Amino acid sequence: PETIVVQELANRMAERVADVVKALMKMGVMATMNQTIDADTAELVIEEFGHKVVRVSDSDVEQVIEQVEDKPEDLQPRPPIITIMGHVDHGKTSLLDAIRKTSVVSGEAGGITQHIGAYQVTTESGAVLSFLDTPGHAAFTSMRARGANVTDIVVLVVAADDSVMPQTIEAINHARAAKVPMIVAINKCDKPDADANKVRTELLQHEVVVEAMSGEVQDVEVSAITGKGLDELLEAIALQAEILELQANPDRSAMGAVIEAKLDIGRGPVATVLVQHGTLKRGDIFVVGEQWGKVRALINDKGERVDQAGPSVPVEVLGLNGTPEAGDVLNVVETEAQAREIADYRHQAAKDKRAAAGAATTLEQLMAKA
Ligand code: GTP
Ligand code: MG
Repeated sequence: PETIVVQELANRMAERVADVVKALMKMGVMATMNQTIDADTAELVIEEFGHKVVRVSDSDVEQVIEQVEDKPEDLQPRPPIITIMGHVDHGKTSLLDAIRKTSVVSGEAGGITQHIGAYQVTTESGAVLSFLDTPGHAAFTSMRARGANVTDIVVLVVAADDSVMPQTIEAINHARAAKVPMIVAINKCDKPDADANKVRTELLQHEVVVEAMSGEVQDVEVSAITGKGLDELLEAIALQAEILELQANPDRSAMGAVIEAKLDIGRGPVATVLVQHGTLKRGDIFVVGEQWGKVRALINDKGERVDQAGPSVPVEVLGLNGTPEAGDVLNVVETEAQAREIADYRHQAAKDKRAAAGAATTLEQLMAKA
C-alpha cells in the first residue's frame, strides 16, 4: 500500500507538521508526525492546504507525493539548469570547460576549481546558468526514474566529424521523454573533416529539425578548442531559458537532487546536490534517500565554502551519515529524530521491497523448474 510519514508530507508541502496533524484531526484521522498515512488521505490533506498532487509513480512508496506547488506570490526567478548530453568523446566536458573559461567573471578566474560535474556560469549579459555534465547519462536517467526532473534544457553535443551516433540518439530520447527543450551544439567545427550539414541531415532522420533546416530546434556550430560559437551557444541557452520563465521559492525548507555522491577518505560521505526549492543552509538537518545528516559544510563549484545555496545552485554537502545515490532527493526536516525516523522508514521499505522482489524471483525459478 502507498503510504507516507506525516512529517515527510508536511516537509514536501513546506507546511508545519503541527498544522498537518491538526488538518488530519479535523478529518478524523489521529496520527502523530512519525506515523504513516495512506496516499488517499495524504491527497486530501494536500488539497486542504491548497497544493497540487502530482503522482509520479503508483508503485513507489517514496514517490507518492513528489512535488507540491508553491503559492505564486512566493516564487522568484531562478537560473536554468542545463544538462550537456551526447555521444562519448563528442566533447561534452571540453565544451563545458571552454564555456566556464570564457564566462568566469573577473576575480574568480585563476581559482582552483573543484570537479563536481555541476557548475554555474555568468554570461557577458549577466545571465546565470547552471550546467550539469553527466557522463553516461546515469544520473540523468536515475533522476528521471525517481521523478526528480532536474533538467530544464538539454544541450545535445554532436561532433561534426562523427555525426549522429548511438548515444546521440539515446540523448534525444531522454530529452523527449523528459519533455525538455533541446539545443544542438555541433562541436569540433575546427576539424578539417567537420561536416555540420551532415549532422543536421542525420538529426532529421530522428525527427530533430534544427533552425538551419527551417525547424524549431536551435542549432549552433561550435568548437571547444578554438572557442568558436560559444557566445552564440550561451545566447541560445539564455533565450530558451527566458521562454521557460523558470521560478522557485527560495524561502522554504530546501529540497534538492543528488547529482553524484561518494565516500571521501578525508571528508566522509560527500554528495553534490542541486538545490531545486528553498535555500540549503549550514546546520540544516536533512534526509536524503535512505541517509540523513546535518549540513557541516557547503562547498560551491569554485571550491569555496559557502553558508547557503538557493534554487538551481549546485553544492557539495558534507555532514552525511552515509553515502546516498545519484537521483536521491534531499529534504530538510526539523529535527534529527525526524530525519533518523524517515531514513529508517525508507531503509526498511527498500529492504522489504528487495525481499519481495527476491521472493518473486525464487517463485518464478521454482515455477520454471516445475
Ligand atoms: P565522455 O565524457 O567520455 O563521453 O567524452 P566527452 O564528450 O566529455 O568528450 P571530451 O570533452 O572528453 O573530448 C573528447 C576528445 O575530443 C578530447 O580529446 C578533446 O580534446 C577533443 N575535442 C573536444 N572538443 C573538440 C573540438 O571542438 N575540436 C577538436 N578538434 N577536438 C575536440
Ligand atoms: Mg566527459
